[in-house]
Amino acid sequence: KKESAATIFWHRHAVTKEDRQRLHGHKSLMVWLTGLSGSGKSTIANAVLLELFNKGISAYLLDGDNLRHGLNSNLSFSPEDRKENIRRTAETGKLFVDAGIVVLSALISPFREDRLNARTILGEENFIEVYIKCPLEECEKRDPKGLYKMARRGEIKQFTGIDQEYEEPEAAELVLDTSESSMEKAVDTLVTFIMEKII
Ligand code: PPS
Repeated sequence: KKESAATIFWHRHAVTKEDRQRLHGHKSLMVWLTGLSGSGKSTIANAVLLELFNKGISAYLLDGDNLRHGLNSNLSFSPEDRKENIRRTAETGKLFVDAGIVVLSALISPFREDRLNARTILGEENFIEVYIKCPLEECEKRDPKGLYKMARRGEIKQFTGIDQEYEEPEAAELVLDTSESSMEKAVDTLVTFIMEKII
């Protein structure tokens, strides 16, 4: 990490995060969803986003797949690039939190150290980690994009769960098991959890 040069300064702005939170009528927060491909991250995040919107909450979703079309389009799936992917997403999330918005992210984010780095970037009080738990066998059975099949055939390398690791969270604020209970239940639990934090 480069130290900020002595020639770069931090500017205080006339409108603060607290002013914007007052304007929105709720606190801001980053909700970090992590889990295997096919575990249900994007589906849950999308449904939560809609419910929050319907409750009048300013929320935004940073989806890993979508970010890789723009902001993170120059990154591969090597451990180093995943690290950078998570760092950029966390820094982006920090801007949203500063803007007074509830930001959800849905990235595999397979490595504990990278998720911890995201937590550090956001600050403990602004960050909740949500583990979307689903056994690999079930994700592979779902295989919504056919990627597990391709990975098994060796057509995609470094695929999470197949030839690269997924390190399960040890201290997530919330664990939602999508193989044992319904998506609706998971969405409901997460919306309730978020609302208690921001109102
Ligand atoms: S990460 O680990 O957080 O950097 O990954 P992320 O940015 O969330 O991107 C995951 C989506 O990219 C597709 N994809 C792969 N995933 C894992 N490993 C490899 N090698 C890979 N190649 C492509 C896949 O569609 C992931 O989307 P989800 O929604 O998780 O299924």
